[in-house]
Amino acid sequence: MGTIVRGGTVVTATDTYRADVLIEGESIAAIGSHIADGAHEIVEAGDAYVFPGGIDPHTHLDMPFGGTVTADDFETGTRAAALGGTTTIVDFALHSRGGSLHDALNTWHEKAAGRACIDYGFHLTIADGRDETMAEIPKIIDEQGVNSFKVFMAYKHVLQVDDETIFKTLQTCAKAGGLVQVHAENGDVIEVTTKQALAAGKTDPKWHALTRPVECEGEATHRAIRLAEIAGAPLYVVHVSSAMAADAIGEGRKRGLAVYGETCPQYLVCDFTDYERPDFEGAKYVLSPPIRDKWNQDVLLRKLKNMELHSFGSDHCSFNLCGQKELGRHDFSKIPNGAPTIEDRLSILYEVGVNRGVLGLNNFVALGSTNPAKFFGLFPRKGTIAVGSDADILVWDPAAVRTISAKTHHMNVDNSVFEGMTVKGSPRYVFSRGRKIADGAAFIGEKGYGRFQKSARFYPLQV
Ligand code: URP
Ligand code: ZN
Ligand code: ZN
Repeated sequence: MGTIVRGGTVVTATDTYRADVLIEGESIAAIGSHIADGAHEIVEAGDAYVFPGGIDPHTHLDMPFGGTVTADDFETGTRAAALGGTTTIVDFALHSRGGSLHDALNTWHEKAAGRACIDYGFHLTIADGRDETMAEIPKIIDEQGVNSFKVFMAYKHVLQVDDETIFKTLQTCAKAGGLVQVHAENGDVIEVTTKQALAAGKTDPKWHALTRPVECEGEATHRAIRLAEIAGAPLYVVHVSSAMAADAIGEGRKRGLAVYGETCPQYLVCDFTDYERPDFEGAKYVLSPPIRDKWNQDVLLRKLKNMELHSFGSDHCSFNLCGQKELGRHDFSKIPNGAPTIEDRLSILYEVGVNRGVLGLNNFVALGSTNPAKFFGLFPRKGTIAVGSDADILVWDPAAVRTISAKTHHMNVDNSVFEGMTVKGSPRYVFSRGRKIADGAAFIGEKGYGRFQKSARFYPLQV
């Protein structure tokens, strides 16, 4: 016995049509105009969209950072993701300087196995450019199923690496079928501006943004793209926050480069003035790159529409205000960087993109599911509605209205950067490999159900 999702509007990155979808076991067995009831369970979806489950390409769960550990682990984070319509995440395993990539990956496997409620893959960060590290990359891609490697141009003395390391990583990945991801901000400049601000007694959360001006992101994005150009390597720029950085990506693409950009929900709805909220509430918005002036929001949204930005990740990195963000009450540079966004990623994209008439439904699916699946070697097993694909299905109610609040969200954290925002459009049912795991706001899946998904090698894409 299977399940028929009956009469919904199926939306993929390219097509929109009414159909029944038959789930058998863990896969989609048939798509048709009328599939006979047989002995199948019927899920009526006549008034709903049938999307592929969301793929969140950018999460940080159970991650030590900023003197503490993220508030969400693989259980709480993936449960919240599922309730928001996401059925696969790709999380960052942190490499340590002098250590092996294998060990880093194993540490993250231990964090996820037995806890994740939905499927997951991994990216690896690169902490050093030693020959041993570079020699591991092809094996990690071909044997361990991880196809992407993030280098940081910021967080000096912590995660930042130099241009030599970035360049070596680009060259190695270009040969081996890997995709380099870059956190593009000039960490050396930020080190100076931060010290100067603190010395002048400027300690409030807004100084996080004021010490990381947009030019830091613009310069680093340009530099990373030129390094990729010299190396002949593809490049994926994570968490693009500004028009200046997005323009650099557009210029790279005009030169014919395989450069791709990702933005995140916080950059579409928050703005610089959020840092000025009273009573240290501005600390909620301390994340990097910082939230920009409001006008950037429309530029980013337009670039998502025009496919000048190609992917939509949450950059979920949750810290409680109480006890965690508070570490920086008297020094903005000690506020752990990050925000809880895994649950509301798709609702925000739908609200500001689809409901406001900027993005089409196919754009929405491409950005929130299909393109991430392609970048990170999961397509077509995931990221689409097709016969033979995993039955990761999001039945989406376009009429459901809810107001986002930390009081009602499912993330294990006491704050939301979207607090009070009303969104129309929410998951009604979520299926992960054929199993119904969310029914409205009720999680009906299981801790430990999620499986590691191997990523295939990266091939530069036509996106
Ligand atoms: O502030 C952020 N973005 N925290 C997570 C780490 C990163 O840089 O992605
Ligand atoms: Zn980053
Ligand atoms: Zn991140």
